[in-house]
Amino acid sequence: MKAPHLGEPYLLTPGPLTTSYAVKAAMLRDWGSWDDDFRAMTRDLRSGLIALLGAGAEDFDCVPMQGSGSYLVEAMLGSFVPRDGKVLVLSNGAYGVRAAQTLGCMGRACTLIDKGDYLPPRGADVAAALAADPAITHVLAIHCETSSGILNPLAEISAATYAAGRKLLIDSMSAFGAIPLEPAVIRFAAMVSSANKCIEGVPGFGFVLARKAELAAAAGNSTSLSLDVHAQWAALEKTGQWRFTPPTHAVAAFLEALRAHAEEGGVAARGARYANNRDVMVAGMRALGFETLLPDAWLSPIIVTFFCPADPAFVFGRFYAAMKARGFIIYPGKLTVADSFRIGCIGQMDAAVMTAVVAAAAASLAEMGVVSAAPPAVALAARMAG
Ligand SMILES: Cc1ncc(COP(=O)(O)O)c(C=O)c1O
Repeated sequence: MKAPHLGEPYLLTPGPLTTSYAVKAAMLRDWGSWDDDFRAMTRDLRSGLIALLGAGAEDFDCVPMQGSGSYLVEAMLGSFVPRDGKVLVLSNGAYGVRAAQTLGCMGRACTLIDKGDYLPPRGADVAAALAADPAITHVLAIHCETSSGILNPLAEISAATYAAGRKLLIDSMSAFGAIPLEPAVIRFAAMVSSANKCIEGVPGFGFVLARKAELAAAAGNSTSLSLDVHAQWAALEKTGQWRFTPPTHAVAAFLEALRAHAEEGGVAARGARYANNRDVMVAGMRALGFETLLPDAWLSPIIVTFFCPADPAFVFGRFYAAMKARGFIIYPGKLTVADSFRIGCIGQMDAAVMTAVVAAAAASLAEMGVVSAAPPAVALAARMAG
């Protein structure tokens, strides 16, 4: 895998991430949003994304929307949950909390299963909450909760949701394209993701993949003009165009990213490369004395949280700068229980890059005079049981 650019650092972050030169080069021309060429690009984008769903995809359609991931979550919630609906949000990190906040802003009723910073919401939790509250119409699950890196158990969440006659909405922002989400295996009504995550495009838009029947039934639900998924879908179907100015260059980049995704071998191959990135990086970091927040069974191939070492010579800001000086941008942690940082495994990176990341971490610790990378006892005590 080629280095991203002359002198450009690798982004070990969950998006924007390190993209290929070809993806960047695809943005070097302008496109008329009304023109047939761009309409054909939009058609290819939609059909390419539907195909990534796999078995059961024929019941789904794709609606791209301008904006970052949060805009897409807001669009999905506002468009598929009727105004008198109620959502059970499964929260185990920042993005579950944000989804509940979003529902509050739009005035939709909502209740929360709050598992704290990183514990997974289980099927039994969902079944109990749904049995206790018949007003709940929808469940919102976060596929990979990027704030800890946990891969939530969607299959059991979906089974519990549909056993209780409710519908599942999924925020698959940081997982789609690398972790299978086949409707024939995991039933759901709609999901959202964004261009600058596992497909390895650039920021600028996201997309909804929803059952056609849900799209048709969503008319009039949204209280937002621009984030109305039904209206965007209807316009795309009728005219082939986005309703408002589309991010033309980001779409062109994304089509190149989709082509490379297929060439690599699709969702399975993309997921395998990321899992290998994680395995090489985690093994190396553990060998240096670092500890992961999560036991192996819950580690996603997307991003991994490490505890900051207890050694007083370790200061995150200095570690960050030392890693950056060696060509790697890492990510601060979001835990409330202990100081932490995160290292992403997604983007144009492979095992050789991850080996270099570990070497950079070792050199950075040595430069700072950190003798041991072991976390404080309090962090280990708060850690999830294996
Ligand atoms: C799971 C999840 N949901 C929502 C978001 C919000 O996306 P954005 O920051 O692009 O608005 C992110 C961002 O990383 C995410 O990982």
